[in-house]
Amino acid sequence: MSYNLLKGKRGIIFGALDSKSIAWKVAERAHEEGAVFVLTNAPVALRLGTISELAEKTQSQIIPADATSVMDLEHLVDESLNILGEKIDFVLHSIGMSVNVRRGNHYTHQDYNFTKKGWDVSALSFHRMMSVLYNKDAMNEWGSIVALTYMAAQRVFPDYNDMADNKAYLESIARSFGYFFGREKKVRVNTISQSPTPTTAGSGVKGFDGFLKFADKMSPLGNATALECADYTISLFSDFTKKVTLQNLFHDGGFSNMGISTAIMDELTSGNQIIEESNNDKEKQSKK
Ligand SMILES: NC(=O)c1ccc[n+]([C@@H]2O[C@H](COP(=O)([O-])OP(=O)(O)OC[C@H]3O[C@@H](n4cnc5c(N)ncnc54)[C@H](O)[C@@H]3O)[C@@H](O)[C@H]2O)c1
Repeated sequence: MSYNLLKGKRGIIFGALDSKSIAWKVAERAHEEGAVFVLTNAPVALRLGTISELAEKTQSQIIPADATSVMDLEHLVDESLNILGEKIDFVLHSIGMSVNVRRGNHYTHQDYNFTKKGWDVSALSFHRMMSVLYNKDAMNEWGSIVALTYMAAQRVFPDYNDMADNKAYLESIARSFGYFFGREKKVRVNTISQSPTPTTAGSGVKGFDGFLKFADKMSPLGNATALECADYTISLFSDFTKKVTLQNLFHDGGFSNMGISTAIMDELTSGNQIIEESNNDKEKQSKK
């Protein structure tokens, strides 16, 4: 179903790698809603992924840009302005990568060169991208910038590793840069905190399948899919959300406000050891 919500709008979409990517779904939905846009990803991802299929389907051009390079981002924005013919109305930052996660380094035993690389790609890239757009005055008034994040920025998910810290930094940038973009250019900046979603980046996290099931059973509406995330993103790019800014918006079927669900309680009380051997029991035993 399409409603022409983005008719006449122009955008840049970062981070579509393959058809599972959240950015891929956003591009498909943006196209259906009447937008025109440029697709971009890191040069290596363009070689490994299948983005040209998406470009063909959405009649978009692809411009390679490594989000850690100001030069690449300046070229991307200049070229996008040429291709789109006018200033930009919406931008999606859908980029995340942790070398520590990839290499299986525990949170307590990081390689700090990898930590810096992951932070540069996953968090600082958002500042860099907005800085280039801001200084080139490339955004239209009432434009919208969205980045994707995860709730490990607020709560502990041990295997999310250093990405938790990167997401906290990313969400802070949305507020800090969002202030200047709002005051000076009437552009809004928000982050969407999405449910665990089976994509290349998501599936790289240790124990992801178990966690996906847990989150689904915990959330009254179940996990939000990549397509549902795309629909929500479209609403934030549309003119129906013009005064929403500096927000971290949970799109997670209600997970973020849950303590425990009946479905999880039922599993725990059906003979599972977790209840029998709680932390308190262990403490009592160690004091004996
Ligand atoms: N999958 C989940 O469970 C989940 C949940 C919440 C938030 N998110 C976030 O959603 C966003 C998109 O991830 P996804 O799940 O669609 O996975 P994905 O693997 O499809 O997308 C990640 C993208 O980041 C790109 N990227 C990596 N390094 C880059 C660089 N140097 N320059 C430019 N692009 C680079 C990759 O090429 C890829 O396209 C990420 O920010 C991720 O953290 C994902």
